[in-house]
Amino acid sequence: MTPFVTLLFLLSAMGGAWPAVSQTSDPTELGCYDWGGSSRDRVLDRVPVPVLVLEGEAGWLSCPPNVYNHSSAQNLLWYRVPEGQDQPEGQDLEQPVPYSSRISRDGERLVLSPALPEDSGLYICTLRNQSSSSKMSMRLKVRRRDQVSPLADCVPPVAAAPVQVTVPFQQGQTLECPDLQDAARMGDVPPRVSWYHTRPELSICKGEFLSHDVEQQGPHLRIWVMLVPYQGFYVCTVQFQRRNRALNFTRSINVTAIQNQYHNLSKDPVILRPHGDQVFSVRRDGDAQLVCQALFPVIQSDSSWDMWWTVDGKRPGDRFVQKNCTVVSYDYGDVERESVLLIRDVQPEDLRREINCSVRNGRGFQSRRLQLQEEVSLPSVQLGCGLGVTLVLMLLLFVVYHVFWLELLLLYRSWFGTDERHTDDKEYDVYISYARNSEEEQFVLSTLRSVLENELGYSVCIFDRDSLPGGTITDETLSFVARSRRLLVVVSPDYASQGSQALLELKAGIDGMALGGHLRVILVQYKPVQRQGWVRELRSARVALALVQWKGNKSRELSSHFWKKLRVELPVRRVNGAVQETALMRLMSQNSTNSQTGLISSMVKDPEKAFNSAA
Ligand SMILES: *[C@@H]1O[C@H](CO)[C@@H](O)[C@H](O)[C@H]1NC(C)=O
Ligand SMILES: *[C@@H]1O[C@H](CO)[C@@H](O)[C@H](O)[C@H]1NC(C)=O
Ligand SMILES: *[C@@H]1O[C@H](CO)[C@@H](O)[C@H](O)[C@H]1NC(C)=O
Ligand SMILES: *[C@@H]1O[C@H](CO)[C@@H](O)[C@H](O)[C@H]1NC(C)=O
Ligand SMILES: *[C@@H]1O[C@H](CO)[C@@H](O)[C@H](O)[C@H]1NC(C)=O
Repeated sequence: MTPFVTLLFLLSAMGGAWPAVSQTSDPTELGCYDWGGSSRDRVLDRVPVPVLVLEGEAGWLSCPPNVYNHSSAQNLLWYRVPEGQDQPEGQDLEQPVPYSSRISRDGERLVLSPALPEDSGLYICTLRNQSSSSKMSMRLKVRRRDQVSPLADCVPPVAAAPVQVTVPFQQGQTLECPDLQDAARMGDVPPRVSWYHTRPELSICKGEFLSHDVEQQGPHLRIWVMLVPYQGFYVCTVQFQRRNRALNFTRSINVTAIQNQYHNLSKDPVILRPHGDQVFSVRRDGDAQLVCQALFPVIQSDSSWDMWWTVDGKRPGDRFVQKNCTVVSYDYGDVERESVLLIRDVQPEDLRREINCSVRNGRGFQSRRLQLQEEVSLPSVQLGCGLGVTLVLMLLLFVVYHVFWLELLLLYRSWFGTDERHTDDKEYDVYISYARNSEEEQFVLSTLRSVLENELGYSVCIFDRDSLPGGTITDETLSFVARSRRLLVVVSPDYASQGSQALLELKAGIDGMALGGHLRVILVQYKPVQRQGWVRELRSARVALALVQWKGNKSRELSSHFWKKLRVELPVRRVNGAVQETALMRLMSQNSTNSQTGLISSMVKDPEKAFNSAA
C-alpha cells in the first residue's frame, strides 16, 4: 500500500508534531550511495509519483498514517483538484470530493469502484480538530485502456508499476498479489485471484498458469524451486465484490533469480582491483585515474551498498574527483562495480597521501590503500625524438651509401687496398685494346690514354704506340698483355672482327685471366652496342666482367661516374692516390669544372701542395 502513496508536502500547523517526510540528503554528493532502501523509494520521496489506476478497475487512495490517526478518522476530509486545473497555490480550486455509490470512503481510504478517467487529479486529505489542521496531497492518474500496452498478448494490461521480487536459486517463494489485503478488507467476500506468467524478452506467455514447480495455492502463487525459466513477470488479477459491485484490479510482479543464499560463501564485499601490492604509476603534473573494482555479493534481504574513496581519511575534494560508480558485471544479483578517482595535476606530496578505496554492504566492510609511484620511464616525447633521429640517420646513411658508394669504395681502397706494384713485376697498369680506324680509336688516344697517364698516373700500354717495329705481332701482343695488370677492352661494333689485332688481344686477356696471371679484363663501352654485335668471346665473358659505360659529355669530367667506376676497377695507386681520393671526395658532389680538373692534375704532380691548398 505505502509504495503507492505519494508524500508531496506536509503542512503542519501543529508545531511540527508530525514527523518530517523527507530525510535524505542529496545522494549524488556521495557518488556511489545506496544505503538503506531501494533507489525507487528514494525517488518517491522527492518526486511526486502518481497513483496509477486502470480505467474500469477498482482504485483507492490512502491517507498516510502520519496524518491519519484511527481515533480521529471521523475528522478526515478529502478534497480534490481535477486534472488540468491544479496549481500549487490553487486553494480556490479545491473542491470537496463528490461522494456517490461509485466514490466512497472506507476508513482512511477513498475508494473508486471503479475508477474512471475523469477521476484523475490531485487529491488532498485533511485532518482537522479545533486548534489545528494538517494535510497531505497525492496525485491520481486513471489510465485509459488504450494508453496501456500489456506486457504480452495473453496477460491483462497493468497500469501500476511492477513490484520487484528476487528469489534465490533452488529456494522456494510464495508470491502474493500486491494489494490483495486491501481487496480482502474492502470486499464483501474473499477475493479470487488469477495468475499469468510472461517473459516478454523471450516471447513466452502463459495465460493460465500451470507448472510443476510453480502452482497456485489459494490466492497465492508458490514457486517451489526457483530456476531460470521461472523468472519474468507474474501478473495477477484480483476479483472481489464490494457493496454488490463486481470489481477487479491487476498488478504485476517482476521476479528475478539471484544467487543461492544457502551456500557458505561469504557475503562480504571484496575489493578485486587493485590487488594488495599493486602500484599505480602516475606522472607528475599530469592527471591520474585510479580505478577500484569491487564485488558485492547479493544479499536477498538487504540490497544496500556503498563504495567510496578517502584521501587521508577524508572524502575527496579539491584536485581529487570521485566519479560515479559503474556496473562492470551482473551475475544473478552479484554485482561488480567500478569507481574511478581522478587526481588532477598530480603533486609529489600526493604520492605520500593515504588514498583508500572502501566498500560496504549489509554484511561487511573492506578498505584498501592504493600505492602510487612516480612514473620513471622516459617521457614519450623524448623517446619519440630519439627514435625519429635514429630513423633519419639510418635513412641518410642509406641514401649516402646508394649515391656515393663508388666514392666510398674508392676511399676504402685508398686506405686499405694493396698496391699491386709491390706484389708483381708487371710493367704496365693498363693495356688498352680497341678497334683500329674507328671512332673509338680517337677516344682511346685522346681521352682515355691521356687521362689515365696524365691525370691518374697510370702506366698505359697501347700496342700501336709502344711496340717496336719489326717484331712478330702475335708474340709482342701476348708479351705486352702478359706484362699488364688490366686489359681495357673498348667495345665497339667493329671490335674484334675476325683475325684482327683486337681479337688477339682479347683472347690473350681472357686466357691470361683464366690462367690466373694477375690480369683482369675490363670492358669500356664508348657507344651503346647491340649485344648481338659482340664477338662470341666477349659475349661469354661479359657476365663475369665489369662494364664501364661512357655517357658522352657527362663523362668528360674527372669526377664523373665513368672515371670513378673505372678507377675502382684499375689498380690502387697508393701513395699519391690517397691524397687524390681525399681531394676527390671533396669535389665529388660538385659539378667539377676545368679548374678542378686542373687541381687534380696539379695534385698528381705535386700531391703535398695540392692537398694543402684543397684543405
Ligand atoms: C493517534 O491518536 C492517539 C490518541 O488520540 C495518540 O495517542 C497517537 O499517538 C496518535 N498517533 C499518531 C500517529 O499520531
Ligand atoms: C489536535 O491534534 C493535535 C495532534 O494530535 C493534538 O496535539 C491537539 O491536542 C488536538 N487538539 C484538539 C483540540 O483536539
Ligand atoms: C475487470 O472488470 C472489468 C470491468 O467490469 C471487466 O471489463 C474485465 O473483464 C474484468 N477483468 C477480469 C479479468 O475479470
Ligand atoms: C525487472 O527486473 C529486472 C532485474 O531486476 C530489471 O532489469 C528490469 O528492468 C525489471 N523490469 C521492469 C519493467 O521493472
Ligand atoms: C586504508 O586501507 C588500509 C588497508 O589497505 C587500512 O589499513 C587503513 O585503515 C585504511 N585507511 C582508511 C582511512 O580507511
